[in-house]
Amino acid sequence: MSDYQYIEVSVEDGIGHVSLNRPKVLNALNRTMIREIVTVFDDFDQREDVKVIVLTGKGRAFAAGADIDEMADDDAIRMELLNQFKDWDRMNMIKKPIIGAVQGFALGGGFELALSCDLLFAAEDAKFGFPEINIGVMPGAGGTQRLTRLMGKTKALEWLWSGEMMPGKEALQYGVVNRLIAPELLNEQTFQFARNVASKPALSVRLIKEAVEKAEDYTLAEGMQFERKNFYLLFASEDQKEGMKAFQEKRKPSFKGR
Ligand code: CAA
Repeated sequence: MSDYQYIEVSVEDGIGHVSLNRPKVLNALNRTMIREIVTVFDDFDQREDVKVIVLTGKGRAFAAGADIDEMADDDAIRMELLNQFKDWDRMNMIKKPIIGAVQGFALGGGFELALSCDLLFAAEDAKFGFPEINIGVMPGAGGTQRLTRLMGKTKALEWLWSGEMMPGKEALQYGVVNRLIAPELLNEQTFQFARNVASKPALSVRLIKEAVEKAEDYTLAEGMQFERKNFYLLFASEDQKEGMKAFQEKRKPSFKGR
């Protein structure tokens, strides 16, 4: 499965793995690469043998941002007509869990790609930031919105205006990343966590993601109503019958994802 120019793709143990593969330019994200990522994510979202998606980067960076060389001569109207961020938006439609593992730099669009993941594990040497300010632009793929939701207005503005790099420890403190891990253990621990989620009943995993995402936009009452419907819906699944029966019979459940 390597029909792609800028990424590597594999599937094993229920985990669909995409690895950014332009290490010479620190995985700078060009349009083709984003399209490739999202095409594979869409495919993974449909496949029964993929329960969880893991996104990693090859080399000394997760991704150092959108490809500046590709953008440098662009103009506003061309970007509008191209609908520059359409493929990025498609990532928000993925229903399966996406876990990102960040080593080295996650900057600009690379940070935005990381923030599009549901969970982020990072190596202790990871560095996050929005250096767009230093090249006369600003984030365009959700950075101002997602960072502000995570750390609040004042802290987000500090990072966005300074363009400085946020060390992993600080990213952990603000809930930007879930876990900081020794670099040599990053992949192993990320995949271990992914396998654990992949072993859970897939419909529960999916409907939990859907409900948690609503929490950002819904009022508490609306969100609770939404949650309840998803809870009821799971009683139409085979896995609910199996999970509860296995508990009563004191045995391990065997989930089918239905
Ligand atoms: N686009 C294109 N090429 C990039 C790149 C990027 N975003 N980031 C790094 N590269 C290339 C460099 O040009 C260099 O290529 P050459 O070897 O051919 O010269 C190679 O990757 C290695 O980079 P450096 O030599 O610069 O490595 P370094 O260790 O000295 O510095 C760095 C690392 C601090 C990350 C530095 O590369 C850097 O500042 N990169 C740009 C970061 C940036 O501004 N990102 C935001 C882009 S805009 C954006 O993302 C908009 C959006 O919201 C969608």
